[in-house]
Amino acid sequence: MTNYPVNMSVKPEVKAFFDEATNTITYVVKDPNSNACAIVDSVMDIDYAAGRISYESADEVIQYVKDNNLTVEWLLETHVHADHLSAAPYIQQELGGKIGIGDKITVVQDTFGKVFNEGTEFQRDGSQFDKLFQDGDEFTIGGMPAFTMHTPGHTPACMVHVIGDAAFVGDTLFMPDGGSARADFPGGDAGELYDSIQKVLALPDETRLFMCHDYGPNGRDIQWETTVAEEKEHNIHVGQGKTKEEFVKFRTERDAQLAVPKLIIPSLQVNMRAGEVPTDKDGKPMLKVPVNGLG
Ligand SMILES: [Fe+2]
Repeated sequence: MTNYPVNMSVKPEVKAFFDEATNTITYVVKDPNSNACAIVDSVMDIDYAAGRISYESADEVIQYVKDNNLTVEWLLETHVHADHLSAAPYIQQELGGKIGIGDKITVVQDTFGKVFNEGTEFQRDGSQFDKLFQDGDEFTIGGMPAFTMHTPGHTPACMVHVIGDAAFVGDTLFMPDGGSARADFPGGDAGELYDSIQKVLALPDETRLFMCHDYGPNGRDIQWETTVAEEKEHNIHVGQGKTKEEFVKFRTERDAQLAVPKLIIPSLQVNMRAGEVPTDKDGKPMLKVPVNGLG
């Protein structure tokens, strides 16, 4: 069982947007009794080879919000993503809402502030975000109660946002046939990831779980929604009561074989700034490539 303030009687309406370029799912989470909503894990489009960013994915979400007369209260990030760029500031400018992430963002900023050799103008106190959530923090979206669970392991700042009976799990879990996310980024830890996954699996069995990513393993269609019960029963990495020891051994061996995510370099620089593109000394948008600097 869990000590978190679970409220399964509240059932948000969840609209998903799948980004084919990065296999990311963005969610609009609406209060069934008002027009209030939150947007979880938005995507900014990038053609990295061309150094070009654009907003088709974010514009689709914005259009949906406008068409349905929704009010955006929150722009939630589950973590500092390494595989896509956040569009939170772009959406905020159009629709409002507060950008929130886990308070351990400061650890991530410190780590990658060094990797990218950022100067003192890059604040490492999380002040780029409107709200830093701690484990167990409660908030509302319209009349819906919500809370955060700190779920480190994939990254130190990972948070699961639980809104009524729906949990947005970020990269703690994938669909049952996808298993779990890697734990080998700086600050990642397979043992911590196991413990965080157990926190998610301690939510009520019928909790709806919404993934941040799906890669359609073994040729199946893309899916993003499952339940705690399904994960406990069928998750290929942690289901059927797999032990921490088994998980850590498997995860560590698997991670050693994984390639670096294609967009990790632009993603980290943008996402550790809450989705703002960094600028050079003349104020021009500019990204860096730390040569042999990612470890
Ligand atoms: Fe991630």
